[in-house]
Amino acid sequence: MRLTDEEKAMRDGAEGPAVAAAMNLLERYGAALDCERLCDVRNVAGTMTQPSPVKARLVGEGGWNKAFAVINLDCDDDVEIPDMRVPTCQLQHGFGADASGVVPYPAQMIELQGDAEAFYGRRGVSILATCTPYQVGNIPVRGEHCAWMESSAVIYANSVLGARTNCEGIASTGAASLTGKIPCWGNHLDQGRYGTHLIDVRTRVETFFDWGMLGYFVGGAVGEERPAVVGDIGRPDLVELKHFGAAAATSGGVELYHIPGITPEAPTVEAAFGPVPVPEAIGYRPEQRRAVYADLNSQGTSADVDFVLLGCPHASVEQIWQAARALEGRRLSPGTELWIMVPRALKDVADRSGYTEIIERAGGKVLGDSCPAMSRAVPPGTRVFATDSAKQAHYLPAILGIEAWFGTLDDCIDAAVTGRWRGGLR
Ligand code: F3S
Repeated sequence: MRLTDEEKAMRDGAEGPAVAAAMNLLERYGAALDCERLCDVRNVAGTMTQPSPVKARLVGEGGWNKAFAVINLDCDDDVEIPDMRVPTCQLQHGFGADASGVVPYPAQMIELQGDAEAFYGRRGVSILATCTPYQVGNIPVRGEHCAWMESSAVIYANSVLGARTNCEGIASTGAASLTGKIPCWGNHLDQGRYGTHLIDVRTRVETFFDWGMLGYFVGGAVGEERPAVVGDIGRPDLVELKHFGAAAATSGGVELYHIPGITPEAPTVEAAFGPVPVPEAIGYRPEQRRAVYADLNSQGTSADVDFVLLGCPHASVEQIWQAARALEGRRLSPGTELWIMVPRALKDVADRSGYTEIIERAGGKVLGDSCPAMSRAVPPGTRVFATDSAKQAHYLPAILGIEAWFGTLDDCIDAAVTGRWRGGLR
């Protein structure tokens, strides 16, 4: 790793011990990657405020300075944490105070998170509290180097916005927030952004449900590589691309995709592959679509649904409105809960627009900050849940040992009001 004079000065303590620890971490991280240099970042999305028992212990031992040093800088020294050097935001974390008594989430975790928000907010961490920072104002421009965590956000930033970030971790984003630097490798480099696989869609993909299934197929087909998707696809919008990317990052480890003619770095199929010859296509046909649907529903046996979850990744205003419209004048089945996960800033919009009132009148809840997978919290006694999210259908059975059904928004709302799963592939 070659450090610039400025970076060497940071490492040697010119800006204090916390920045020195951060630069030391980045130097070790870059060397492990065989990376030649760091690049400048002005946009960090990480996690500082997520409560945990380990964090509670560290705060008890040495306050929030200690917790940040150990968890976000991999440093055991006593250091004082200065203001963030570059704009930094908090991604999703635990539940906030307004979830107390509403969500089964420990009161001490809510309290710890409140303390964390006060500490980090004073140092320049914007508490966006969502896995979709791009929905609430953090929108890097094309080509901008970033240091983001959260797989569904990383794939959106790289693919839809054309920004450049690898899928970073808690410590590397912590170090980036204090230095404005991150190892320059992978998705930061032109050669790390060209397509590697061509996916040819031979069955019509045009709804949110379709895009989620296509994403789940693509991740399984390409693993951690970079697909370019062509064929019988409509013009996807933010919500569909959000679902597509989250699903591809879940079944595989996709961090960047191209859709020629739609995503910014691929005006054509040839441009998506750059100097690389366009490979033979992998087909996505009705039989692959059926197989993905069966896979996503392979954890469901009982049709009695206790819990319906919408908003993974966190819902857009349009999705909240759609849910409200589907629930207007209806009531949830006794014994079935409905949660819609949203960015807190958008809940304010939903509140003012009257959507929250409609959803709550039906018996549903609109919740910010977190999600069941993140906080390992579902309504008490949940055995079977239904969702329109391929990501939650994939993770929640493994995390909480519950059954899952995957379907459309209408299937999920139907399950919420009848207590029964009646979805199917259409
Ligand atoms: Fe967001 Fe939780 Fe899904 S953090 S992407 S709602 S698993």
